[in-house]
Parts: sequence; structure tokens; C-alpha cells
Amino acid sequence: MVTTNTTAQSARTNNGARPTPVQYAHIVGWGMAVPETVMTNDDLSAIVETSDEWIRTRTGIRERRIASDHESTATLGLKAAQHALEVADVLPAEVELVICATSTPEHIFPSAASLIQAWLGANNAGAFDLSAACSGFVYGVNIAAQAIRSGSIRTALVVGSETMSRVLDWSDRSTCILFGDGAGAVVLKASDVDGGVLSAVLRSDGTGGDLLGIPTVGSLDIEGVTEISNGHKFGKMHMNGGEVFKFATRVIGDSLTQAAQQAGITLADIKLIVPHQANARILHAAARNLKISDALFMSNVERYGNTSSASIPIALCEAVQQGRIQPNDYIAFVGFGGGLTWAAMVVQWGSPQVTAGTSNFINRQRRQLSYRLAAWRRTLLRASRSIGSSFARLRPEHGRMDRLKHKAEQHPFE
Ligand code: COA
Repeated sequence: MVTTNTTAQSARTNNGARPTPVQYAHIVGWGMAVPETVMTNDDLSAIVETSDEWIRTRTGIRERRIASDHESTATLGLKAAQHALEVADVLPAEVELVICATSTPEHIFPSAASLIQAWLGANNAGAFDLSAACSGFVYGVNIAAQAIRSGSIRTALVVGSETMSRVLDWSDRSTCILFGDGAGAVVLKASDVDGGVLSAVLRSDGTGGDLLGIPTVGSLDIEGVTEISNGHKFGKMHMNGGEVFKFATRVIGDSLTQAAQQAGITLADIKLIVPHQANARILHAAARNLKISDALFMSNVERYGNTSSASIPIALCEAVQQGRIQPNDYIAFVGFGGGLTWAAMVVQWGSPQVTAGTSNFINRQRRQLSYRLAAWRRTLLRASRSIGSSFARLRPEHGRMDRLKHKAEQHPFE
């Protein structure tokens, strides 16, 4: 378990157990991007035996977005990141860390985070993908916040991005109806102002790994198979819905209560909970367990389905747009999913100096220039590498290397 805490004003009490951070980590920018293509429940009923009525009543989902052939986890993540930088009025060169929480990267490596870093022109940043399924965004925000609070960096970008449509088994009606594609992102920045990320509870129970998963290239006996030994399809999601449902309703309440305690507040102080958007019934059951109103949970699962690590930042963006979060409000994130993993976090919202839409005109032009330069840089570097390797082939020692290689192939043990 990883925890953070701060000394604090207002409702929070200082338990004296944890040191005051070097600087506070505030969320100062947020953005989202979803594909244009909408798939309704009726569309789904043409693919598998299901109905709009069944899906709506069991899950609360009416429609989801599906990525086109030109969209990927990294391209959706890039768009969300650009929006978040705009709101934060932060230049790509200021970003020192890019984390992309995802279960559907284009490659094992390079990471989606590295692609996003390069496309932004965030040339002073480290970048990596984070695999914690639907809890990944909260894990990522905590890592970024810890790096800021320790004083080692000042600015971080955390993206949650998924193309779940590419890992769904479209013949399995118990899973393919639940998920959708999309991306969300936040920018975190150091500040002397007390607040920002106050606490985080990160948990895992790998004994439940078989309840929800996607076997991939590292699986055993993989060559040429479409099914791995336990009957799960290679590269496709499998799930035990009933068990996951019970797990989710239990951990939401437990982890939120712990995160509130660690932040020195109570659940009654929290203005809005932005949960992972898996299923309206899960949120209803969690609210009942916690004896809080359903309205305290932000919900947009109806329009996007479960977008895994992207669902919390997408819901956060819409909550801000709807005016449901005001400066100094305590808000909470809670995620849960494959691993099994779960995570909850309390944030005191609002770096006071930042409000959406105040982005500086000159900086906006500089960001656009950074994106263009990043594209040219990529093209130039690739061209120069390919010219470099063509020249290398013409060098005499290259011919010698070829001869040696040929000899080694003929006499492998010499
Ligand atoms: N359309 C129509 N019928 C369906 C169906 C679908 N899409 N999916 C399953 N069914 C059927 C089942 O075959 C079963 O039929 P049977 O009674 O003839 O055997 C019946 O509906 C009930 O299935 P069951 O699995 O018990 O339904 P449920 O009420 O538990 O709902 C889920 C299934 C998947 C919606 C629910 O378990 C769930 O939401 N779990 C959590 C999943 C989740 O959120 N995962 C991601 C976490 S990050």
C-alpha cells in the first residue's frame, strides 16, 4: 500500500505522522478525447444475442464509443493530453514525467506514453506505461503526485487511454456489451498552496487475477494458438462478471473510507466522488453500503460504457464542465479492476490560480509550434537514421561483417 498525506487547513487534521511535502501536487489541467463513432445497445443486438433493455437494466449503459482504424490508444491519449495542457497553460517542454495508464497499448514497447511524449514534443520528460487495469489512472496520479511532493519534479502529465474494442471478444455477450474506447488526461503541477492530492490507497490481490484478464504475448504455450491452456482466448478479454461485481462493491467503500481517513477528513466532507465507470448497479450498491446518496457519485457510464483506465479522467472532465467541482472542494477518485487492483484517492481541488479557459494566447501558439516541431523532428530523425544505415552498408567493413556472418552461419561452432 502506498499512502500520502499532508498537513492541512480546514476540515483536515494533522496527525503528525507524515512529513509536510516539499511542495503540493495540484491538478491544474484536464482533458478528454473520445472517438466519434457511437455504438448503441441496438447496434450491439445485431452482433450478439442481447437487447437494449437487458443492457440498460443490468448495467446502465446505453451507448459507447468505438475507435476508427485511424485511432489508437496513443492518438486518443495525445488529444486528451493536448486538451489538458491547454487548460493548465503548460508547455510540453515543462512536462517532466508522462505516465499512460492503459491495458491496450499498441506495443509492449515503445510505450504509449513514449509516443505521446514524442508527439507533444515533451523533450524533458521521462515516460512509461502503467498496467493496473481500471485502477491505473489513480495509481498514475499517485506516482506523479509523489514525485512532485518529494520535490524531484514540478510538472507531470497522467493519461488514461484505452481502445477496449480491440481486445473484446465480440462473440461474448457478457463482456462485449460493457466496454468502450476513449482517453482522459490531467496535468499535475507543484505549488506552495496547501491542497491537491492529499491521500492515496493503492491495493492489489493477485489471487483474483483469473477473474478478469487479457492473455498476451508473454502467456505460456503461445505459438500459433488462438486459445491458451485454460480456455481463454489469446489477446481477448475474459471475465467472471458476478465475482467482479461483488469485489467491486466491497472495495469501493473500504478504500474510499481509508483514503478519507488518511486525508484527515470524513466521507461527509467529500463533495463529489469520481469513480471508475463500470456499471451503474455497482455504484448504486456501493452508495447503499456507504449509506451515501447515489448523487454523490459522478456517473456518465450511460454514454461511454466502461473505458477502463480512461473512465475516471473522462468523468472528471465532464464533472468540471458541469460545474460540479469548485475550488477547495474535497473530491475523491476510486478505481477497481483487473489484477485484481483497486485504488482510492482524496484531492482538494483547485489550484486557485488556474481556471479552465484562461489559457495564455502566446503559450497556445508555442504549444502548437511544439507539436509541429515534434512531427518534423520525428520525420528528420527517421530520414537521417535510414540514410545513415544505407551509408553504413556501403562501407568496406560492412562487407567484411557480411562475410564473417556468412562464415559463422556455415560453421556455427567456430
Ligand atoms: N444480454 C442478454 N442476456 C445476457 C447477457 C446479455 N448481454 N449477458 C448475459 N446474459 C444472460 C446470461 O446468459 C444469463 O442467462 P441464464 O440465466 O439463462 O443463464 C442471464 O443473462 C443472467 O446472467 P448473469 O451473469 O447472472 O447477469 P448479471 O445480472 O450478473 O449481469 C453483468 C452480468 C456482467 C452485467 C454483471 O455481472 C456485472 O456488471 N459484473 C461486473 C462486470 C464489470 O463491471 N467488470 C469490469 C470491472 S472493471
